Amino acid sequence: MSTAWQLHQGDAFTILPTLTEPVDAVICDPPYNSGGRTNAERRAQGARDKYVSGDAQHAFPDFDGDTRDQRGYTYWLGQILAASYARTRPGGAALVFTDWAQLPATSDALQAAGFTWRGVIPWRKPISRPVKDGFRRECEYVLWGSRGDPLRHAPTIYLPGWLEGSQPRGKARVHITQKPESIMRQLVQIAPVGGLVLDPCAGSCTTGVAALAEGRRFVGIEGSPAYATTGRERLAAAA
Ligand SMILES: C[S@@+](CC[C@H](N)C(=O)[O-])C[C@H]1O[C@@H](n2cnc3c(N)ncnc32)[C@H](O)[C@@H]1O
Repeated sequence: MSTAWQLHQGDAFTILPTLTEPVDAVICDPPYNSGGRTNAERRAQGARDKYVSGDAQHAFPDFDGDTRDQRGYTYWLGQILAASYARTRPGGAALVFTDWAQLPATSDALQAAGFTWRGVIPWRKPISRPVKDGFRRECEYVLWGSRGDPLRHAPTIYLPGWLEGSQPRGKARVHITQKPESIMRQLVQIAPVGGLVLDPCAGSCTTGVAALAEGRRFVGIEGSPAYATTGRERLAAAA
């Protein structure tokens, strides 16, 4: 890849097999296909209904692919990650976001794709939902895997075992389920400096913005035309 970043708009299934340069890390923040108490509720509501509160001040575009039942989700994510695995160089890493409800499905998908599962990094969100008579829903999770033995960095790096950060607010918020740039900046360090980071469900390209800020390169795929436009604008500004 001759440029620092590339963003493809379209379905990851179609585009992943066309990528030619092996990637050093896959960072995937897929639609969680979570929310709702039952499979029926999960399938009936789109991403905006599930993840944006009714009194939110913004009206971002909805996105597809968030209404699968759990078996469908495991199969779909397994295929996306398998296609990403095929593009990953030996020793490369996979980091996949999930919530508590989809953690078992996500670990199955990661391993079915071929990655060796290496750990779970909790992401604590300071602004989170209390649960009546129960435990606060305060964390999401990043599953860590590698293609075979993990790459040895020179010099050796030591990354944190948990992360903390809030979703962007106000003008900085451009996507329904946008991740904090501060979190992504820590995650992209799993790739060597100058290495290539792939995000097959890129959204507004927070992974790419973080990769560029940390001296890595980025190739992303985003299904929604509206979010691909937002992502390109952010990447161009970051570059
Ligand atoms: C959880 S969001 C990613 C948010 C992103 N991390 C950010 O900070 O903006 C998941 C994204 O995956 C996209 N997506 C869903 N299915 C896809 C597919 N089959 N191919 C490519 N993108 C897809 C959605 O349009 C959505 O924007």
